[in-house]
Amino acid sequence: MLTLDKPPTFDATLRAGLLDLLAWRRDVRAFKTDPLPPGTVERLIKAACLAPSVGLSEPWRFVVVDNPALRLKVRSNFETCNAAALALQDDSRQALYARLKLSGLDKAPVHIAAFADSECEQGHGLGRLTMPKALDYSVAIAIHTLWLAARLEGIGLGWVSIINPDAITATLDVPASWRFIGYLCIGYPSEEHHVPALQRAGWDERRAPACRILYR
Ligand SMILES: Cc1cc2nc3c(=O)[nH]c(=O)nc-3n(C[C@H](O)[C@H](O)[C@H](O)COP(=O)(O)O)c2cc1C
Repeated sequence: MLTLDKPPTFDATLRAGLLDLLAWRRDVRAFKTDPLPPGTVERLIKAACLAPSVGLSEPWRFVVVDNPALRLKVRSNFETCNAAALALQDDSRQALYARLKLSGLDKAPVHIAAFADSECEQGHGLGRLTMPKALDYSVAIAIHTLWLAARLEGIGLGWVSIINPDAITATLDVPASWRFIGYLCIGYPSEEHHVPALQRAGWDERRAPACRILYR
């Protein structure tokens, strides 16, 4: 529940909890098929809508994809794009890439496609003349906000970008001005980890030991 009558105190417990939340967020691709309780999707999207946005434009547009035929098309879009990505891997990495699970489209009970409305009038263009991509950044932050809100409730989210944006825009029949930002698989995770899945799968990547910062 939101407290709006007085500024809240963000105490040490909350600060420590936030760090745990960030450390345990995870991109989830292995889901239980259990449905989420009624109203959960709307509650999580409401939390996402508290994200910052360029010029207060709130350019995020969410499409909840329930229709099995549409889900099938999205999955086949992913399979095609993933096969193309596999073919582009070096010989030495192809076998490993083929073993990676790069989406939870098969089991996640909730699918949401996130778009940025490139022609949204809200915000009166403030901040986007110089950087039109600021609209997309705003949607990415909203997705991250949704990700954290979900994790707080023990719900996992996996971001799928191995998808052809034009095809998904056509499949979901959204306005032409909507730019595809990401496809989200959401549901209860079938396992919990504090180490990213790619690292666990031996993809030879890990979190950098130190942040890359330049001081000028
Ligand atoms: C913009 C974006 C796109 C992503 N696309 C995919 C994807 O298509 N498939 C996938 O398995 N993971 C995808 N991921 C998840 C990343 O692989 C993951 O965030 C990274 O490996 C770190 O793991 P963690 O999120 O569990 O900390 C994406 C993440 C972001 C932020």
